[in-house]
Amino acid sequence: MPVIPAAEYRRVLGHFPTGVVVITTLGPQGPAGLSINSFTSVSLDPPLIGFFPAHTSGSWPTIRRHGAFCVNILAAGQEDVARLFATPGADRFADVAWLPAPHSGAPILEGVTAWLDCVIEAVTPTGDHDFVLGRVQALDAASTNPLIYHRGLYM
Ligand SMILES: Cc1cc2nc3c(=O)[nH]c(=O)nc-3n(C[C@H](O)[C@H](O)[C@H](O)COP(=O)(O)O)c2cc1C
Repeated sequence: MPVIPAAEYRRVLGHFPTGVVVITTLGPQGPAGLSINSFTSVSLDPPLIGFFPAHTSGSWPTIRRHGAFCVNILAAGQEDVARLFATPGADRFADVAWLPAPHSGAPILEGVTAWLDCVIEAVTPTGDHDFVLGRVQALDAASTNPLIYHRGLYM
């Protein structure tokens, strides 16, 4: 097996442009969430989406315990939100307005371009991350542009 240095791996994979989502949930201590770009549509019928939280994620166990989550697709101009939900130790919901999603009660963040309210369908360990398969229960979108992440920059 060839050994690929982590920095080189990150540099090359960063050439793939993605959107940024904040996965939110409702924990016993209140709302929780983290920024994710490993998000994808998986299936139309049934409607399934997926994302990959690291085994080191502090928010993922809370999402898993609740069994449901909301995918918030960030809009252009929301890079401060992307950074906030990627900052360890930050009080991420202190200054963020949100409404509860209809099924999970998980936060729909103000100003997002789209959201999907999901229940966890399956969890599969994949290397140092888990693959979380979610079944969509409700969704909606605005007609705003998305936030794009490419080579470490937001646009
Ligand atoms: C643009 C962007 C994309 C990210 N994508 C992922 C991802 O797909 N999976 C992941 O585990 N962490 C990802 N992160 C890192 C987490 O957001 C970060 O480690 C965060 O502090 C985790 O919070 P938690 O420990 O509360 O779960 C991403 C961060 C950014 C800024």
